[in-house]
Amino acid sequence: MLVINNIKDLQKWRLEQCNKTVGFVPTMGYLHDGHMYLVKKAKQYTDLAVVSIFVNPLQFGANEDLDNYPKNLENDINICKSHGVDLIFAPSANEIYSNGYPPKTTVHIELLGNHLCGATRKGHFDGVCTVVTKLFNLVKPNMAFFGQKDIQQLRIIETMVKELNMLIDIIPCTTQRTHDGLALSSRNSYLSVSEEKSALIVPKVLNHLVSLIKQGETDTNTLITDGINLISKTHSAKADYLEIVDYNTLQPVNTVNGKIIIATAVFIGNTRLIDNIIWGD
Ligand code: PAF
Repeated sequence: MLVINNIKDLQKWRLEQCNKTVGFVPTMGYLHDGHMYLVKKAKQYTDLAVVSIFVNPLQFGANEDLDNYPKNLENDINICKSHGVDLIFAPSANEIYSNGYPPKTTVHIELLGNHLCGATRKGHFDGVCTVVTKLFNLVKPNMAFFGQKDIQQLRIIETMVKELNMLIDIIPCTTQRTHDGLALSSRNSYLSVSEEKSALIVPKVLNHLVSLIKQGETDTNTLITDGINLISKTHSAKADYLEIVDYNTLQPVNTVNGKIIIATAVFIGNTRLIDNIIWGD
């Protein structure tokens, strides 16, 4: 397995591999089984699996956890090695933004980014789209693999790739969970033992709303109020948002009808966790 830190070496490697298909898993590191599920899919579909490890400053707001974001490159390298990754691209911020920071050219996404995480994390998805575009231009993957836990990110990248005519297949991959249902996330490492217990409210509230829908409740206001109440009763949990949106437009819906996403972000202490369930078709 190769570990490359600079753009020149990556481009040279990609030219040498031009007759091979590449499956790309962009990450911010601190890898876990959720990431390795994406790697498994990449290896299933393409000749070579490439993982990028880059904590992108452009997608963090001023009061967010950029400086404290968990890092362990040595462990990430070992994990990738043992899962058959062919190349890790782990550049510095200076390498990625070598023409100056903040960059003069960014990718802005309209509408899909204004609800859910986009409502409270201003500019976050422009930061994600900009770095993902740069990484796509560098890695030149045939396929890229994204987890459904970050459903808004996934829908936005699918839309960006379509609208900007990028020749890359975006492959959505199911959310990987602990045995008691918590979605795997690098940010779970911030949780204390008691917070880990409280964090189970996140999948619990989503499943609760699905069971109400199955019983016939279609009014999204009623569902959201019920869900927020449940979260507020949980020790050290505070809802950032709980929304029910249309799958295609990511705009809130009044009634459960067609394909929808029930999505939430919940603070457990200082740790913000996100999760969602896709419902209907
Ligand atoms: O999902 C992530 O880890 C990041 O948003 C991504 C896609 C690697 C872009 O920095």
